[in-house]
Amino acid sequence: MKTIAIVLAAGKGNRMKSDVPKQYMELEGYPILYYSLKAFEESFVDEIILVTRENDIAYCDKELVKRYGFNKIKKIVAGGKERYQSVYAGIKAIENADFVYIHDGARPFLTEDILHRIQAEVEQSHACVVGVPVKDTIKVLNHERIVKSTPDRSLLWQIQTPQTFSYNLVKSAYEGLERMKIKTQEITDDAMVVELVKCHPIKVVEGSYTNIKITTPEDLRIGSVIIKQIMEQDHIHS
Ligand code: CTP
Ligand code: MG
Repeated sequence: MKTIAIVLAAGKGNRMKSDVPKQYMELEGYPILYYSLKAFEESFVDEIILVTRENDIAYCDKELVKRYGFNKIKKIVAGGKERYQSVYAGIKAIENADFVYIHDGARPFLTEDILHRIQAEVEQSHACVVGVPVKDTIKVLNHERIVKSTPDRSLLWQIQTPQTFSYNLVKSAYEGLERMKIKTQEITDDAMVVELVKCHPIKVVEGSYTNIKITTPEDLRIGSVIIKQIMEQDHIHS
């Protein structure tokens, strides 16, 4: 069984409002992307494909792959303007695989536990994402910001990454996307492509409330707290 991780780092990070794209910003001495790559480097995953902006390929090769000895990174490829285009660039770079794990480079606190849970499930169901139950009440509004409905909270989950699929399923979903009349700006995650193009059921397994994506400046402060906690636990266990 060959498992390949596609780690996405081709975004600009507009919501972070920083000069440097957020995946290269430092958290406790290392770039955010370092932590995301390290989680896969130290896991059962066989190979990693890193997707960055064209101009950042040389930087990533020198400052991440070589510097930290990430031996599982076999390719660094250029992403696209939209996230789904970056994912597709990663899929096209795969020669052969059984399973593909797609992960946000800006989601640095992925744990071994989560990877094992998702591995067990994707082998059964072929399409599986991680998520957590929402803690707040969610309301659906109209354009005048008037509440239209309040969905049953027990069925609402916040979806994270990794999003994992059988290789053939995800490849054929992305190939099919170009032929379908789907508004691509509405695609906000990878599972949506498999849902819409293949109508394949997507299983959700429990991620963690600390598996956050670094999106806005306050996430950096929250991220520092999480990383310190992880470092302390590692210290206790070593
Ligand atoms: N991503 C990507 N290619 C894109 C857009 C996003 O590879 N065209 C990656 C980002 O680098 C990030 C992950 O997808 O690791 C999640 O996306 P998001 O948090 O939205 O990052 P950005 O698009 O960079 O941020 P923003 O939406 O605030 O501009
Ligand atoms: Mg984005």
